[in-house]
Amino acid sequence: MKDIYILGIESSCDETSVSIIKNGSEDIATVISSQIDIHKEYGGVVPEIASRHHVKNVTFVLEECLEKAQMTIEEVDAIAITYGPGLIGSLLIGLETAKTLAYLYHKPLIPVHHIAGHIYANSLVKPLEFPLLALVVSGGHTELIEMKDHFDFQKLGGTLDDAIGECYDKVARVMELEYPGGPKIDKLSKEGKDTYHLPIPLKDDSYNFSFSGLKSAVINLSHNEAQRGNTLRKADLATSFQKVAVESVTSKTRKALLDKNIKHLIVAGGVAANSILREQIIKMAEEIGVDVSVPPLKYCTDNAAMIASAGYYAYKLGKRANFSLNSLSSDPLK
Ligand code: KG4
Ligand code: ZN
Repeated sequence: MKDIYILGIESSCDETSVSIIKNGSEDIATVISSQIDIHKEYGGVVPEIASRHHVKNVTFVLEECLEKAQMTIEEVDAIAITYGPGLIGSLLIGLETAKTLAYLYHKPLIPVHHIAGHIYANSLVKPLEFPLLALVVSGGHTELIEMKDHFDFQKLGGTLDDAIGECYDKVARVMELEYPGGPKIDKLSKEGKDTYHLPIPLKDDSYNFSFSGLKSAVINLSHNEAQRGNTLRKADLATSFQKVAVESVTSKTRKALLDKNIKHLIVAGGVAANSILREQIIKMAEEIGVDVSVPPLKYCTDNAAMIASAGYYAYKLGKRANFSLNSLSSDPLK
């Protein structure tokens, strides 16, 4: 069988990334240029600044990826691109680059939904086995998705308000930790104890999540401690917050796996890099006899390898876009 090489491009937020993936699973070369150091000055991603840096970076990242892979664009079979959801200006830079390459080199253009990319990051580890449950935990999403086949996404539940990553980042801000807060809370929590009592969000029978109440509880706690003249024990707060946030996603995931009798679980998105979440999800899955896959850290946060991997399966299914493909800031998973 002929090998298929997909060149993926990702630019939905503050990472400019290009990757070449062979047959959906073999990482030939992946280059990621992160703008974290630029945005942390502002406490979060500034969309206009992000777009400008994508413009500056994208050709260098592409060149570096081709050089690393020792390949030319003529040798790839298709160009996979994140068309959404994400920051419109940022998405457009990647999309226009992909369209230009597809046009110049006569390559098919494969549209990839950003969350489908996060899910398919797992196929860089081992092929997806169906039916599976995907727990998507990122800066913009917290969802439970059932998949009976490739690109067959059934949403079982999702957040009613903030995404878990957004909540991590806002809580980190209250604690005066640098953007992005998720990894900082993760690290700090190793030094703390679970001493603050925070409410477990949305303890109900649904597959939905809610994180705005937990965020408000942390904000209120911080104000109350300040009014009483107490210093916030940041490490303890990190431990207490993380315990509750992780427990919420783990218990809903467990319920969905048992109710639906699903034996394969995959975790996707930036928050999948969280050490406690990884530990608790693996423990829970083992307890109920479910096979679990969590991508290596480098494939958890935004990268083009996951886009190229999803692009491979989309390519095999005959999914193609024409040059009228536009960027979408929000779009249901498909
Ligand atoms: O998937 P991602 O790179 O971008 C989106 O598509 O949203 O996820 C970014 C999110 C941020 O909220 C960041 O704080 C969080 O993932 N994150 C973490 C960790 N690493 C990244 N959250 C908790 N623990 C981590 N170790
Ligand atoms: Zn993402």
